[in-house]
Amino acid sequence: MPDRQVSLVTGAASGIGRAAAIAFADRGDDVVLADVDADGLTATADLLRNAAGPQAVIDAVPVDVSDERSVGDLLGHVRSQHGRLDYAFNNAGIEQQRATIVDCTEDNWDRTIAIDLKGIWLSMKHEILLMRESTTGGGDAAIVNTSSVVGSRGVFGAPAYVAAKHGIIGLTRCAAVEEAPNGIRVNAVAPGHIRTPLVQRVIDREPAKEQTYRDNALLGRLGQPEEVAGAVTWLCSDAASFVTGDVISVDGGVLV
Ligand code: NAI
Repeated sequence: MPDRQVSLVTGAASGIGRAAAIAFADRGDDVVLADVDADGLTATADLLRNAAGPQAVIDAVPVDVSDERSVGDLLGHVRSQHGRLDYAFNNAGIEQQRATIVDCTEDNWDRTIAIDLKGIWLSMKHEILLMRESTTGGGDAAIVNTSSVVGSRGVFGAPAYVAAKHGIIGLTRCAAVEEAPNGIRVNAVAPGHIRTPLVQRVIDREPAKEQTYRDNALLGRLGQPEEVAGAVTWLCSDAASFVTGDVISVDGGVLV
Protein backbone atom coordinates (compact mmCIF):
# COMPACT_ATOMS: atom_id res chain seq x y z
CA MET A 1 0.00 0.00 0.00
CA PRO A 2 1.23 3.56 -0.70
CA ASP A 3 1.81 5.99 2.20
CA ARG A 4 -1.34 7.94 1.35
CA GLN A 5 -4.58 6.39 0.19
CA VAL A 6 -6.86 8.02 -2.38
CA SER A 7 -10.51 8.23 -1.34
CA LEU A 8 -13.42 9.40 -3.50
CA VAL A 9 -16.70 10.68 -2.05
CA THR A 10 -19.82 11.43 -4.13
CA GLY A 11 -22.45 13.72 -2.67
CA ALA A 12 -19.54 15.46 -0.93
CA ALA A 13 -21.06 18.96 -1.08
CA SER A 14 -23.39 18.38 1.85
CA GLY A 15 -24.54 16.28 4.78
CA ILE A 16 -23.22 12.74 5.17
CA GLY A 17 -20.84 13.02 2.20
CA ARG A 18 -19.23 16.17 3.56
CA ALA A 19 -18.78 14.56 6.99
CA ALA A 20 -17.21 11.45 5.42
CA ALA A 21 -14.87 13.59 3.30
CA ILE A 22 -13.70 15.40 6.45
CA ALA A 23 -13.12 12.05 8.19
CA PHE A 24 -11.06 10.71 5.25
CA ALA A 25 -8.97 13.91 5.19
CA ASP A 26 -8.53 13.87 8.98
CA ARG A 27 -6.90 10.44 8.81
CA GLY A 28 -4.53 11.60 6.08
CA ASP A 29 -6.10 10.35 2.83
CA ASP A 30 -5.94 12.30 -0.41
CA VAL A 31 -9.63 13.06 -1.01
CA VAL A 32 -11.52 13.58 -4.26
CA LEU A 33 -14.81 15.37 -3.65
CA ALA A 34 -17.53 14.94 -6.27
CA ASP A 35 -20.99 16.46 -6.47
CA VAL A 36 -23.40 18.18 -8.85
CA ASP A 37 -23.46 21.24 -6.56
CA ALA A 38 -20.35 23.27 -7.48
CA ASP A 39 -20.75 25.88 -4.70
CA GLY A 40 -21.22 23.21 -2.05
CA LEU A 41 -18.14 21.39 -3.36
CA THR A 42 -16.03 24.53 -2.97
CA ALA A 43 -17.32 24.97 0.58
CA THR A 44 -16.45 21.36 1.47
CA ALA A 45 -12.99 21.69 -0.10
CA ASP A 46 -12.30 24.85 1.96
CA LEU A 47 -13.43 23.06 5.15
CA LEU A 48 -11.13 20.11 4.43
CA ARG A 49 -8.11 22.27 3.65
CA ASN A 50 -8.61 24.19 6.90
CA ALA A 51 -9.08 21.00 8.94
CA ALA A 52 -6.38 18.80 7.41
CA GLY A 53 -3.67 21.41 6.86
CA PRO A 54 -1.53 22.39 3.88
CA GLN A 55 -0.18 18.86 3.24
CA ALA A 56 -3.69 17.63 2.39
CA VAL A 57 -4.38 16.83 -1.27
CA ILE A 58 -8.00 17.83 -1.80
CA ASP A 59 -9.56 17.76 -5.24
CA ALA A 60 -13.11 18.91 -6.08
CA VAL A 61 -14.69 17.62 -9.29
CA PRO A 62 -18.23 18.34 -10.52
CA VAL A 63 -20.19 15.22 -11.48
CA ASP A 64 -23.72 14.13 -12.26
CA VAL A 65 -23.80 10.53 -11.07
CA SER A 66 -26.81 9.73 -13.29
CA ASP A 67 -24.77 10.44 -16.45
CA GLU A 68 -22.22 7.82 -17.57
CA ARG A 69 -20.07 10.29 -19.47
CA SER A 70 -19.82 12.52 -16.40
CA VAL A 71 -18.93 9.59 -14.12
CA GLY A 72 -16.39 8.33 -16.67
CA ASP A 73 -14.81 11.80 -16.79
CA LEU A 74 -14.61 11.88 -12.98
CA LEU A 75 -12.78 8.56 -12.78
CA GLY A 76 -10.57 9.58 -15.73
CA HIS A 77 -9.61 12.64 -13.67
CA VAL A 78 -8.86 10.48 -10.62
CA ARG A 79 -6.65 8.22 -12.76
CA SER A 80 -4.74 11.09 -14.40
CA GLN A 81 -4.34 13.25 -11.26
CA HIS A 82 -3.94 10.62 -8.52
CA GLY A 83 -2.95 7.47 -10.41
CA ARG A 84 -4.99 5.14 -8.23
CA LEU A 85 -8.19 4.70 -6.20
CA ASP A 86 -8.24 2.91 -2.85
CA TYR A 87 -11.64 3.80 -1.37
CA ALA A 88 -14.93 5.08 -2.78
CA PHE A 89 -18.01 6.24 -0.89
CA ASN A 90 -20.99 6.33 -3.27
CA ASN A 91 -23.37 8.53 -1.39
CA ALA A 92 -24.92 11.10 -3.78
CA GLY A 93 -28.70 10.94 -3.64
CA ILE A 94 -31.95 12.84 -3.61
CA GLU A 95 -35.17 12.41 -1.69
CA GLN A 96 -38.15 11.51 -3.84
CA GLN A 97 -40.85 14.02 -4.61
CA ARG A 98 -43.61 12.64 -2.37
CA ALA A 99 -46.07 10.35 -4.21
CA THR A 100 -47.74 7.00 -3.69
CA ILE A 101 -47.35 4.20 -6.23
CA VAL A 102 -50.57 5.20 -8.02
CA ASP A 103 -49.78 8.96 -7.87
CA CYS A 104 -46.15 8.66 -8.95
CA THR A 105 -45.44 10.09 -12.40
CA GLU A 106 -42.99 8.48 -14.79
CA ASP A 107 -40.74 11.57 -14.53
CA ASN A 108 -40.71 11.39 -10.73
CA TRP A 109 -39.88 7.65 -10.86
CA ASP A 110 -37.21 7.99 -13.56
CA ARG A 111 -35.39 10.92 -11.93
CA THR A 112 -35.24 9.22 -8.53
CA ILE A 113 -34.05 5.90 -9.95
CA ALA A 114 -31.53 7.61 -12.26
CA ILE A 115 -29.74 9.37 -9.40
CA ASP A 116 -30.34 7.05 -6.44
CA LEU A 117 -29.90 3.65 -8.13
CA LYS A 118 -28.35 4.00 -11.58
CA GLY A 119 -25.88 6.50 -10.09
CA ILE A 120 -24.56 3.83 -7.72
CA TRP A 121 -24.16 1.30 -10.54
CA LEU A 122 -22.37 3.79 -12.80
CA SER A 123 -20.09 4.93 -9.99
CA MET A 124 -19.13 1.37 -9.06
CA LYS A 125 -18.60 0.39 -12.70
CA HIS A 126 -15.98 3.08 -13.29
CA GLU A 127 -14.43 2.91 -9.81
CA ILE A 128 -13.93 -0.85 -10.05
CA LEU A 129 -12.04 -0.50 -13.34
CA LEU A 130 -9.55 1.89 -11.69
CA MET A 131 -9.41 -0.04 -8.40
CA ARG A 132 -8.49 -3.24 -10.23
CA GLU A 133 -5.40 -1.40 -11.49
CA SER A 134 -4.62 -0.03 -8.00
CA THR A 135 -5.16 -2.92 -5.61
CA THR A 136 -2.63 -5.58 -4.68
CA GLY A 137 -5.52 -8.08 -4.67
CA GLY A 138 -5.45 -8.50 -0.91
CA GLY A 139 -8.79 -6.88 -0.07
CA ASP A 140 -7.19 -3.51 0.48
CA ALA A 141 -9.55 -1.54 -1.80
CA ALA A 142 -13.11 -0.91 -0.66
CA ILE A 143 -16.37 0.61 -1.85
CA VAL A 144 -19.21 1.74 0.43
CA ASN A 145 -22.65 2.59 -0.95
CA THR A 146 -25.29 4.59 0.92
CA SER A 147 -28.56 2.70 1.23
CA SER A 148 -31.01 3.56 4.02
CA VAL A 149 -33.13 2.16 6.79
CA VAL A 150 -35.78 1.98 4.02
CA GLY A 151 -33.47 -0.36 2.09
CA SER A 152 -35.18 -3.15 4.02
CA ARG A 153 -38.59 -1.61 4.89
CA GLY A 154 -41.50 0.06 3.13
CA VAL A 155 -42.76 3.56 3.94
CA PHE A 156 -45.69 5.59 2.70
CA GLY A 157 -45.24 7.88 -0.31
CA ALA A 158 -41.70 7.20 -1.57
CA PRO A 159 -41.85 4.07 -3.77
CA ALA A 160 -38.98 4.98 -6.13
CA TYR A 161 -36.67 6.02 -3.27
CA VAL A 162 -37.47 2.84 -1.32
CA ALA A 163 -37.00 0.69 -4.44
CA ALA A 164 -33.66 2.40 -5.14
CA LYS A 165 -32.43 1.90 -1.57
CA HIS A 166 -33.45 -1.80 -1.67
CA GLY A 167 -31.74 -2.06 -5.07
CA ILE A 168 -28.50 -0.59 -3.71
CA ILE A 169 -28.25 -3.49 -1.27
CA GLY A 170 -28.64 -5.98 -4.14
CA LEU A 171 -26.07 -4.13 -6.24
CA THR A 172 -23.66 -4.03 -3.28
CA ARG A 173 -23.94 -7.79 -2.82
CA CYS A 174 -23.42 -8.44 -6.56
CA ALA A 175 -20.32 -6.23 -6.59
CA ALA A 176 -18.98 -7.97 -3.48
CA VAL A 177 -19.33 -11.36 -5.20
CA GLU A 178 -17.83 -10.18 -8.49
CA GLU A 179 -14.94 -8.20 -7.04
CA ALA A 180 -13.79 -10.39 -4.14
CA PRO A 181 -11.33 -12.21 -6.45
CA ASN A 182 -9.91 -8.79 -7.37
CA GLY A 183 -9.34 -7.76 -3.76
CA ILE A 184 -12.12 -5.16 -3.66
CA ARG A 185 -14.51 -5.28 -0.68
CA VAL A 186 -17.99 -3.78 -1.21
CA ASN A 187 -20.41 -2.90 1.59
CA ALA A 188 -23.33 -0.57 2.26
CA VAL A 189 -24.35 1.68 5.11
CA ALA A 190 -28.02 2.03 6.02
CA PRO A 191 -28.53 5.31 7.87
CA GLY A 192 -31.66 6.06 9.86
CA HIS A 193 -32.70 9.68 10.21
CA ILE A 194 -29.58 11.81 10.14
CA ARG A 195 -29.65 15.58 10.66
CA THR A 196 -28.62 16.79 7.19
CA PRO A 197 -30.07 19.37 4.77
CA LEU A 198 -32.06 16.54 3.11
CA VAL A 199 -33.86 15.63 6.34
CA GLN A 200 -34.12 19.27 7.44
CA ARG A 201 -36.10 20.03 4.27
CA VAL A 202 -38.62 17.31 5.24
CA ILE A 203 -38.86 18.65 8.83
CA ASP A 204 -39.32 22.21 7.55
CA ARG A 205 -42.28 21.03 5.44
CA GLU A 206 -43.75 18.81 8.18
CA PRO A 207 -42.43 19.81 11.64
CA ALA A 208 -44.23 16.89 13.36
CA LYS A 209 -41.86 14.52 11.55
CA GLU A 210 -39.00 15.42 13.85
CA GLN A 211 -40.71 13.84 16.87
CA THR A 212 -41.70 10.81 14.77
CA TYR A 213 -38.07 10.33 13.78
CA ARG A 214 -36.99 10.56 17.43
CA ASP A 215 -39.69 8.12 18.53
CA ASN A 216 -38.66 5.61 15.84
CA ALA A 217 -35.13 5.26 17.19
CA LEU A 218 -34.29 3.36 20.37
CA LEU A 219 -31.76 6.07 21.15
CA GLY A 220 -34.56 8.70 20.94
CA ARG A 221 -32.82 11.18 18.67
CA LEU A 222 -31.70 11.89 15.11
CA GLY A 223 -28.18 10.89 14.16
CA GLN A 224 -25.35 13.22 13.16
CA PRO A 225 -23.57 12.92 9.78
CA GLU A 226 -20.29 12.23 11.60
CA GLU A 227 -21.84 9.07 13.10
CA VAL A 228 -22.37 7.65 9.59
CA ALA A 229 -18.92 8.84 8.51
CA GLY A 230 -17.40 6.76 11.33
CA ALA A 231 -18.89 3.56 9.91
CA VAL A 232 -17.81 4.51 6.37
CA THR A 233 -14.17 5.16 7.27
CA TRP A 234 -14.10 1.96 9.32
CA LEU A 235 -15.37 -0.06 6.33
CA CYS A 236 -12.72 1.75 4.25
CA SER A 237 -9.85 0.60 6.45
CA ASP A 238 -7.78 -2.48 7.25
CA ALA A 239 -9.82 -2.88 10.44
CA ALA A 240 -12.66 -4.15 8.20
CA SER A 241 -10.42 -6.39 6.07
CA PHE A 242 -12.73 -9.44 6.50
CA VAL A 243 -16.01 -7.56 5.89
CA THR A 244 -17.66 -7.61 2.45
CA GLY A 245 -21.17 -7.87 1.03
CA ASP A 246 -22.61 -6.53 4.28
CA VAL A 247 -24.95 -3.72 5.29
CA ILE A 248 -24.11 -1.73 8.42
CA SER A 249 -27.09 0.02 10.04
CA VAL A 250 -26.40 3.42 11.57
CA ASP A 251 -29.90 4.23 12.74
CA GLY A 252 -30.01 4.53 16.52
CA GLY A 253 -31.96 1.26 16.67
CA VAL A 254 -34.98 1.76 14.43
CA LEU A 255 -38.19 0.23 15.69
CA VAL A 256 -40.45 0.41 12.63
P1 NAI B 1 -27.83 15.96 1.27
O1 NAI B 1 -28.94 16.50 0.43
O2 NAI B 1 -27.30 16.79 2.38
O3 NAI B 1 -26.59 15.52 0.34
C1 NAI B 1 -26.79 14.82 -0.86
C2 NAI B 1 -25.76 15.31 -1.86
O4 NAI B 1 -25.93 14.59 -3.10
C3 NAI B 1 -25.93 16.80 -2.21
O5 NAI B 1 -24.69 17.49 -2.03
C4 NAI B 1 -26.38 16.79 -3.66
O6 NAI B 1 -25.94 17.94 -4.39
C5 NAI B 1 -25.74 15.52 -4.16
N1 NAI B 1 -26.37 15.06 -5.39
C6 NAI B 1 -27.70 15.01 -5.68
N2 NAI B 1 -27.87 14.60 -6.94
C7 NAI B 1 -26.65 14.38 -7.47
C8 NAI B 1 -26.18 13.95 -8.74
N3 NAI B 1 -27.04 13.68 -9.75
N4 NAI B 1 -24.84 13.83 -8.94
C9 NAI B 1 -23.97 14.14 -7.95
N5 NAI B 1 -24.35 14.56 -6.72
C10 NAI B 1 -25.68 14.68 -6.49
O7 NAI B 1 -28.36 14.57 1.81
P2 NAI B 1 -27.75 13.53 2.87
O8 NAI B 1 -28.77 13.37 3.92
O9 NAI B 1 -26.37 13.82 3.23
O10 NAI B 1 -27.84 12.21 1.98
C11 NAI B 1 -26.71 11.50 1.52
C12 NAI B 1 -27.15 10.11 1.19
O11 NAI B 1 -27.66 9.50 2.37
C13 NAI B 1 -28.28 10.02 0.16
O12 NAI B 1 -28.04 8.92 -0.70
C14 NAI B 1 -29.51 9.76 1.01
O13 NAI B 1 -30.52 9.09 0.31
C15 NAI B 1 -28.92 8.91 2.10
N6 NAI B 1 -29.67 8.82 3.32
C16 NAI B 1 -29.84 9.93 4.11
C17 NAI B 1 -30.53 9.82 5.30
C18 NAI B 1 -30.73 10.97 6.21
O14 NAI B 1 -31.48 10.82 7.19
N7 NAI B 1 -30.15 12.12 5.97
C19 NAI B 1 -31.12 8.53 5.73
C20 NAI B 1 -30.83 7.44 4.85
C21 NAI B 1 -30.14 7.59 3.68
